[in-house]
Amino acid sequence: MNEILISVLSVSGISGALALLLSIANKTIGNYGEMTLIINDEKEYKVEGGSSLLSTLVDEEIFIPSACGGKGSCGYCKVEVLEGGGQFLPTEAGYVTPEEQKKGIRLACQCKVKEPIKIKIPEELFNVRQYDYNVDMLKLLTPTIMHVGLTLPAENEINFKPGQYIQILTPIYKESDEEVYRAYSIASDPKDKHKVELFLGYIQDGKCSTYIHKHLKEGDKLTVVGPFGDFHYHESDREIVMAAIGTGMAPIMSILKHMVEIKSERKATFYFGARTGEDLFMMEALREIEAQLPNFTFMPCLSRPRPEDNWEGEKGRVTDLIEKYIEDASGMEAYLCGSPVMIDSVVDLLKEKKMPEEHIYYDKFE
Ligand code: FES
Repeated sequence: MNEILISVLSVSGISGALALLLSIANKTIGNYGEMTLIINDEKEYKVEGGSSLLSTLVDEEIFIPSACGGKGSCGYCKVEVLEGGGQFLPTEAGYVTPEEQKKGIRLACQCKVKEPIKIKIPEELFNVRQYDYNVDMLKLLTPTIMHVGLTLPAENEINFKPGQYIQILTPIYKESDEEVYRAYSIASDPKDKHKVELFLGYIQDGKCSTYIHKHLKEGDKLTVVGPFGDFHYHESDREIVMAAIGTGMAPIMSILKHMVEIKSERKATFYFGARTGEDLFMMEALREIEAQLPNFTFMPCLSRPRPEDNWEGEKGRVTDLIEKYIEDASGMEAYLCGSPVMIDSVVDLLKEKKMPEEHIYYDKFE
């Protein structure tokens, strides 16, 4: 009996000592003290060392894209690290190409601030803020696409370019035990700095889309970070080719509303692809835009029209329409939003039709 008691006591003693050692190690090894963070050679911050660069930046209210919430699985949080940042990690290799690595590109969520660090980020990221929006519209546009309308409290405003996106911070809820960020393009007019509209597609088991489609209610609050993204409207005289499928309509809609706002006379055609009549949405709004913009044509097409759709419009995919209607794209520019497969095939086709690569702007979504 005594032997058993002695063994139990010794095991407890060893565990206790190990726990103590671990806690001392955490307090000493994990405690890097105050570090200097210099951004773009001009802004200097005193930060607590030891955390990831991503969360250190969030603490300073500098938000960089991060669709996976810092798990190293989206590749969005790339930052140029000029000094500090430690060893490049195997967890970054899947997202940072060897060429990017040579330029000092790192995943901010993987790289830890354990020494003074100097980084370079695009200036516009200083414009990114976290906002608590009021949810004032949730309306199903198709069986799987929700039109989400959000309004900011009067004292806040968001400045975005037509084509950019925001990230929704999805809270913990019944079917999800973690907070996640997910990116969605803005569909509204940038002129309205208090409102944001989104077209949010439902994805089976998608943490954010399930939350929005099944749990969120009008009158709730929603946390949003943004704006982000290099995909946006460029002013020029070139004729515009727009192409999108599904919720890829969102950034194109924002661009079109902006063109209405500035009374654009540019020649533009929007090729929109859907499978059946059930997947078409915002048709009236687009016909209205067509009436307001003198040189704009909206051209929807269905790849699998059903008899009940009574579809008399174009059939096929957006690539079929581009093939049919565009001969020489050398003087045009393009705005494309859709799946990687759709974007890749449209880009190849436009290049075949002599559109210079630098005039093709696109936003791929999964
Ligand atoms: S936040 Fe997703 S990879 Fe860093």
